[in-house]
Amino acid sequence: MLSNLSIFVIIAAASGIALGIPAGMLLRRKNRSIGRGAVSIGSSTVSGRGAFASRSISESEIIERCPAIEVSDRDVGGELLNYVFYGSAENLRLVAMGYGMLFNHSPQPNVAYYRDDSQLGAELVLYALRDIRKGEELFYNYGEDWWTTRG
Ligand SMILES: C[S@@+](CC[C@H](N)C(=O)[O-])C[C@H]1O[C@@H](n2cnc3c(N)ncnc32)[C@H](O)[C@@H]1O
Repeated sequence: MLSNLSIFVIIAAASGIALGIPAGMLLRRKNRSIGRGAVSIGSSTVSGRGAFASRSISESEIIERCPAIEVSDRDVGGELLNYVFYGSAENLRLVAMGYGMLFNHSPQPNVAYYRDDSQLGAELVLYALRDIRKGEELFYNYGEDWWTTRG
């Protein structure tokens, strides 16, 4: 025979599991963010997803080195056009991997980038223009051209 105390413990454990699983799933969905190194991806303050500082970053510090491939502009169309960088010639586009594609635009950026052609191939190197606090969204300036060519 089970004592009253045992029955109470079993009911409490079962209710905890029953309530905890859906609550955990809800919380996980709401706070979902992914990250690596100094960058995490979360809900942007300006549009869709954005990149955020997952720790404080010092001025000039390299934030991410993104392996990149250069492709013909004929290989890039539709929505993907909004995610690629200009290449080394008019008809070329640079596709940066990692989180480099997900940084949003600001006319007052805290990040800039340059291209580095290493022995392994092209890289897009993102670095801090100033000290950045943990949690700040990371922006680079897409440039006026970017917006005028897209209306
Ligand atoms: C390289 S993606 C940036 C990541 C994008 N927010 C996402 O959720 O996938 C570029 C797109 O983000 C949006 N975007 C970037 N910066 C923005 C800004 N300051 N204001 C409004 N939309 C912006 C534009 O729709 C643009 O086409």
